[in-house]
Amino acid sequence: MSDANAHRRQRTNAGRAAASGIVRALIPIVAIGLAAAPSAMAQSRGELLYTTHCVSCHTTQMHWRDKRSAKDWSSLKFQVRRWQDAVSLGWSDSDIQEVARYLNESIYRFEQGDASRSSLRVPTGLSRELDG
Ligand code: HEC
Repeated sequence: MSDANAHRRQRTNAGRAAASGIVRALIPIVAIGLAAAPSAMAQSRGELLYTTHCVSCHTTQMHWRDKRSAKDWSSLKFQVRRWQDAVSLGWSDSDIQEVARYLNESIYRFEQGDASRSSLRVPTGLSRELDG
């Protein structure tokens, strides 16, 4: 076996080792991506908006405190509107609605004025009937 051959083999092995190193490094990333994908998709728009824009200042603790300012569904919506306004997000009514609904369904559990539209409680067909 010539020196040149041995050298080439060494280089290929090094290349292969590097390549498999990259593959090995990518596996956890891909695995995390796959694991995260379904839950990211299961996240509602309201939850996504809230976690993106609102949790910087308050944890859910804020919504559990004794003297909370959201006392019912409409004051909750008012607070959400007020806070998105305070941080100049320019949310549409439906964004506000989605976030208020997310907070309500995960924390407050107020009786919603428009409960018939709640995705959690009333099946779509029925809610369409109720909406007329
Ligand atoms: C700049 C920091 C900050 C940001 C950003 C912020 N909040 Fe708040 N939030 C607060 C503080 C402080 C309070 C409590 C103020 C009070 O007692 O009136 C509060 C209170 C609330 C309440 C009332 C809680 C209760 O029941 O008493 C709601 C609802 C709320 N925030 C929603 C939001 C939403 C939705 C967003 C994102 C658009 C948001 N907040 C972003 C600081 C913030």
